[in-house]
Amino acid sequence: MNEEKVRLAEELIRRGLDRKKLRAKLGKDWELIVGIAKARIRAKDKFSRDDLWMDLEGLRYATHESVAKYRADRLGEFGVKSIADVSCGIGIQLIFYAMKVKKAYGVDIDPLKVEFARRNAEKYGVGNIEFINADSLSPETVERIDADVIFSDPARPPEMPERRLEDLLPSPLKVYETYSKKTDAFIFDLPPQMRRELVPWKGEFEYIDLHGHLNRLTFYIDPLAKAERSAVILPAGARLESDPNLERIVEWTNKPGQYLYEIPQAIDYAGLINELFHHLPAEARMLLREKRRVLATGEEPVKSPLLKRTYSLVAVLPFHPVRINNLLRKEGFGRATLRISVPQAEYWRIKKRIETNLRGERRAFVFKIGNKAVITEAI
Ligand SMILES: C[S@@+](CC[C@H](N)C(=O)[O-])C[C@H]1O[C@@H](n2cnc3c(N)ncnc32)[C@H](O)[C@@H]1O
Repeated sequence: MNEEKVRLAEELIRRGLDRKKLRAKLGKDWELIVGIAKARIRAKDKFSRDDLWMDLEGLRYATHESVAKYRADRLGEFGVKSIADVSCGIGIQLIFYAMKVKKAYGVDIDPLKVEFARRNAEKYGVGNIEFINADSLSPETVERIDADVIFSDPARPPEMPERRLEDLLPSPLKVYETYSKKTDAFIFDLPPQMRRELVPWKGEFEYIDLHGHLNRLTFYIDPLAKAERSAVILPAGARLESDPNLERIVEWTNKPGQYLYEIPQAIDYAGLINELFHHLPAEARMLLREKRRVLATGEEPVKSPLLKRTYSLVAVLPFHPVRINNLLRKEGFGRATLRISVPQAEYWRIKKRIETNLRGERRAFVFKIGNKAVITEAI
């Protein structure tokens, strides 16, 4: 497993060589090398470096670099001296945490992951990590670790009907039980869809949006908590915290105003819509709340890092693809992005009809609110 071989594999994959040819050219360990090369090609914007060590599984689980950096900066505010990542994977979160402390530990049960993490730490020039290839729940591992904070981003078995702590690997319940003799400061990465009632500790639920999508839920056990619930919008870096003392001011309308404000999923998941409304103009109203889309509306062109996007209203008409298409053509729209929640097959049929023969520079965003099409343009 060396750098030249992986570089060569990247080049051969880009040139379109099939598996047989790759095997012949790469020789020993060719499947592993091809996996690493594919992961590097696929990683694109996830990391600032294009030479990291990971396989495709490692890449899928790996923390996005901007999330890792944000969480490390947050840890830095607490003056923590040491941390152990007890399920470190290819080490991205671990490495960024290590930059903020004197001593870090990286544990993973999978020897290949530990090797990747070790090599990645070297790439980032981080030298204060002790790597341990072992089960983090075993007494021998616990014995070796002396850390102020325990962090774990556990693996999630894919087909679970409901996200529960006991199904994660290692289970945060077990990690807590095992390490609570040593510290009371824990940080857990949890599945964002998990119901908060299933978490038995007092602390903060922090939901992170990255590039417009919900990316992470981090739970900070009490000594490291700053609020009950929070939402962070990355890469902008905006943060909103729950405030139980705020007056409840959210009201609804079914009539879009001159502007539509798209609310980040993290804010909705964190239950912070009321907190957000205290940052919006007084006449703002909630307009739509679906699983993938939350909209408020108002009369001012609000630009805020706490909003995903602001749209200006072009027209409201009955939701009929032919009529929408007529309007878009008349107004000079060349493209339409549908922001509607309908079954997949229907979606493509509607999209095709709405986009027929569009010509022009403008790009429309089309929402469906009740039985109305709301045509907008991003500002
Ligand atoms: C979601 S990944 C961690 C990803 C990591 N945060 C990153 O940025 O690459 C979870 C890791 O937990 C490891 N794991 C699962 N059970 C474990 C255990 N009992 N002890 C140590 N590691 C474990 C898996 O091998 C896997 O690499």
